[in-house]
Amino acid sequence: MDQSNISKEQIGDAAGIIKQGGLVIFPTETVYGLGADATNDDAVAKIFAAKERPSFNPLISHFANIAAVQEHVVWSDQVEMLANMFWPGPLTLVLSRKSESTISLLACAGLETVAVRVPAHPIAQAFLAATGAPIAAPSANRSGEISPTTAEHATASLKTGFDVVLDGGPCQVGLESTVLDLSDGGVTLLRPGAVTRERIENFVGQIALHSEEDENLAVRAPGMTLRHYAPATALRLNAAVAEDGEILLGFGGDAPAGSANLSPTGDMREAAANLFALLHELDSAGADRIAVMTIPNQGLGVAINDRLHRAAAG
Ligand code: TXA
Ligand code: MG
Repeated sequence: MDQSNISKEQIGDAAGIIKQGGLVIFPTETVYGLGADATNDDAVAKIFAAKERPSFNPLISHFANIAAVQEHVVWSDQVEMLANMFWPGPLTLVLSRKSESTISLLACAGLETVAVRVPAHPIAQAFLAATGAPIAAPSANRSGEISPTTAEHATASLKTGFDVVLDGGPCQVGLESTVLDLSDGGVTLLRPGAVTRERIENFVGQIALHSEEDENLAVRAPGMTLRHYAPATALRLNAAVAEDGEILLGFGGDAPAGSANLSPTGDMREAAANLFALLHELDSAGADRIAVMTIPNQGLGVAINDRLHRAAAG
């Protein structure tokens, strides 16, 4: 793997950009990632804006080593075994999030779980070590396009929205990581990937696919098989005001002062960054219903509305 073209200074600069809330395209052994500080809601919102993702699929948080992962997720002997066997490497584990974890709720799409991985690529390793924070990163392509295995693919697909590129040449694996869910006591394959099912089954015995009715569902549409965050409190969308028993989730300058507001200035990126944290907060307020003001259905508003509709239906 050729990393001679990346200097320590470039790694340091990229780490600095992450700490300031910027976005960095970086190589991993699987595909190029579009990275942001996983603990910064606003930086994570920039990822969704840059990818033009129509919904907030949860993102994988990348860590420099196992000890750093353990600060954020619930650990077990089985997780320990898989981590020792496959990390650093192209295996992603979906685990229960520790209550004290500082990972952005937007990065987890509001779920109680976090997808975690320790990548093996030497540039990714150096970048994570220099950053000293977990990095949330989906593949560095515009939504709906194929995952990039060179820096040129990534920049040609995204065009704008990122601050710097670490060009490490072509990715060796070229296929995304395998995603395995261990958050509910079982072992479920959510996305087939670079580590084969057979290799994992050598260690944990037979693993379940996400849907028994349709074994290929996870292959065809990983996003469709996901659980989605829905508050326990009912939601009423396109509300102008809160009625009796309701608590208002406002948007923009028309919301009454003092109500929870996704973005008082109507900024979509700010609204995306606040969405899950505010839903969690209002869910525990004890109201009969959460009344959500209208969010314009453009740009990141499409993803915000996608999640609000799912939450209202659930
Ligand atoms: O190889 C890879 O995994 C690359 C490199 C950059 O690490 N990343 C990548 O990210 O492919 P992305 O966002 O394209 O795919 C992440 C997958 C999605 O299928 C997502 O639904 C799933 O992981 N995922 C993330 N967090 C999850 C969670 N908490 N529960 C269930 N699935 C999750
Ligand atoms: Mg992707």
